Formats: sequence, C-alpha cells, structure tokens
Amino acid sequence: MGKTVGKIHEVVKWPDPVLAKPGEPVTVFDAKLKKLVDEMFESMYAAQGIGLAAPQISISQRLTVIDVSFKKNPEEKLVLINPEIIEREGKQVEEEGCLSLPEIREKVQRAAKVKVRAQDVTGTWFETEGEELLARAMQHEIDHLDGILFIDRLSRLKRDLVIRKIKKMQKNGEW
Ligand code: NI
Repeated sequence: MGKTVGKIHEVVKWPDPVLAKPGEPVTVFDAKLKKLVDEMFESMYAAQGIGLAAPQISISQRLTVIDVSFKKNPEEKLVLINPEIIEREGKQVEEEGCLSLPEIREKVQRAAKVKVRAQDVTGTWFETEGEELLARAMQHEIDHLDGILFIDRLSRLKRDLVIRKIKKMQKNGEW
C-alpha cells in the first residue's frame, strides 16, 4: 500500500478502505506539497490515467491532479486542492473508468458542465470551468476526495454485477 518506487506511487485498487474515506483538507502549502503534486502527475502518467486523486495513492487528503490532454498540452494540467463544485449544468452519460478499478468501464451520468472552486499549490483560491471530458474528470476526481467511486454512481443492479466481476477476477488472481 502506497509504496513509492522513485517518484511513482502505487495506485491502490478497490476495495482498499482508503478509497471509501473522505480526504482531509490540505492546510499546508509548502515545498513538500509541490513535490507530491509532481509525483502525482508522474504516477498518473505511469498508470496511463488522465486523473488521479491523493486517496488513490493512500494519502487521505483533498488533492487531485487532472490532465485530459495526457501530456499533449501542459496548459491543460490541472491541480485541484480542497476543490468544490459550485455550479453544475446539463447532463452527459459516457463510459468511465478508474485507475483503482482496472478493466471496469461503465456508463455514468454526470453534469455536462461544472464550475469548480479550488486552491492551487500556493494556497491561492481560483475558479475554473470545464465541460464534456474535463467536467467528467473533475466530477470523478472530486468524488474520490469524498470517498466515492464511479461504481457507487451506478444502479444497485449494475454495481452488484461489477462487484461480482471483480470478485471473480480476485479469485483468479487477476486483480
Ligand atoms: Ni478514479
């Protein structure tokens, strides 16, 4: 759990209890936090993800990194610290995945557009908006900070089917 190999942190998988626990607010904005953010981007890229929340690397704090361009556009790198969604608009239903639920993909309903208020690595509050994939990523990652996984947003029946599939993979040593 949370082993560090160089700068790359291991991403924990469901049902690790850290994933179900709401993160603590980040209160210290220092060099250590900046280093952690860099390591989170590296860990996310290494795992081929476009979003990573601190609880996924066993750090129960309200911090997430997103890059929907996956390294193509540095301007799209987004760090959200203590984020909250302050506006939601419309809806979208698209397939979603999660580094903590490898191989599981299901359609999830989300707001089409969101406005988020968050702090950056220096502690400065800012607002940012996103739509489509970025809106989805922000909602997915902020859910992680509240201990919510995308499978928790499925119907009871769908969620049960997914969990049955995971248990089968666990049994076969594939999880
Ligand atoms: Ni996720």
